[in-house]
Amino acid sequence: MKFGVFLPNGTNGYILSTRSPQYPPTYEHNRAITVEAERQGLDFALSMIKFRGFGGEGGYWDACLESFTLMAALARDTSRVELFPSVGILSMHPAVAARMVATIDDISGGRCGLNIVTGWNRPEYQQMGLWPGDQYYDQRYDYATEYLQIMKALWRDGHVSHRGKFFDLPDCRCLPTPRHEVPIVCAGSSPRGMRFTAELGDHNFVTADAEKLKTIGAQLKNHSRERGRKVGTYAQFVLIAADTDAAARRQADDIIAGADIGAIRNVLASASLDTNPGGTSEALRTGMERPVELGNLVFMGTPVILGSYESAAREIDRIAEESGVDGLLLSFPDFVAGIRDFGEKIMPRLRCRAR
Ligand SMILES: Cc1cc2nc3c(=O)[nH]c(=O)nc-3n(C[C@H](O)[C@H](O)[C@H](O)COP(=O)(O)O)c2cc1C
Repeated sequence: MKFGVFLPNGTNGYILSTRSPQYPPTYEHNRAITVEAERQGLDFALSMIKFRGFGGEGGYWDACLESFTLMAALARDTSRVELFPSVGILSMHPAVAARMVATIDDISGGRCGLNIVTGWNRPEYQQMGLWPGDQYYDQRYDYATEYLQIMKALWRDGHVSHRGKFFDLPDCRCLPTPRHEVPIVCAGSSPRGMRFTAELGDHNFVTADAEKLKTIGAQLKNHSRERGRKVGTYAQFVLIAADTDAAARRQADDIIAGADIGAIRNVLASASLDTNPGGTSEALRTGMERPVELGNLVFMGTPVILGSYESAAREIDRIAEESGVDGLLLSFPDFVAGIRDFGEKIMPRLRCRAR
């Protein structure tokens, strides 16, 4: 069982509330978090990419540090954790992204992976003149497939000739090649998104409560087995732990009471445009009423592991046992303190860590 941290490189991290910590993203903060994660024995750190935030009272994600350049700096600050930058595939040519990964791979001594973001939010890309039209909602994984095939060929051979539906590359060169195989993660939870990860990825990030995880993880394993591949599932959770169950519950209730309604409305407006069925956008549209353990919209639909340090450890073991996931990607209201508490008070209690 692996553990990673979802770095808060956008304003206010992953919580849409005026009563959770309010902060602009900074390198210093993300450095402190990643160094603490490495010290506490976590396995990886992933930063996201957002080109347009959702505003509201807290200015949710209005500022976002660029993912590759941030990870390049963090590569110098760490020596063990794997680093996953995110590429918004509409924003960058695959040969440019492949070269950036190879560069971070070199800086970090072979610790760079890549998170493929197909892009579900039209205004984010339209503002830069990069939205190809609304047919992209349904075509995005076809585009991602070609994109990733090109990158993989470049990493393997240093050159590729490719003529496809979206890219025409006559003898494209990209050196150096990475010294290590680059692990690919994706967060496709729609059926088409999962098929993409099964075909070309190494791990799928899933945002689902403990019950749903089991089904989704099994589906992915089947898809990948049919293709002769082995692809794992990482589940995304927010962790709110305290000395007692009641104290953790109070913290979560307070965050919900401070819901940033303006920002939530803007997230929903964007998600309602997405026509790709059964995926993240659909889950967001139904997320305001859900209990925090099942993924309330105040936490971007991400389920919360909630309770005393002991209860949280028990819940993580239960999730690991019942769902069979390979790892958890964690976020926190207060990241540095949250990771320290996770490492010192929760990890030593975990049975699943040995898996
Ligand atoms: C762990 C994780 C990381 C993500 N990173 C990004 C990101 O960096 N930028 C972004 O726009 N969306 C990001 N997303 C959102 C998904 O990439 C997005 O919702 C995806 O389009 C889902 O596809 P689906 O329709 O197949 O569910 C992330 C989601 C998860 C769970």
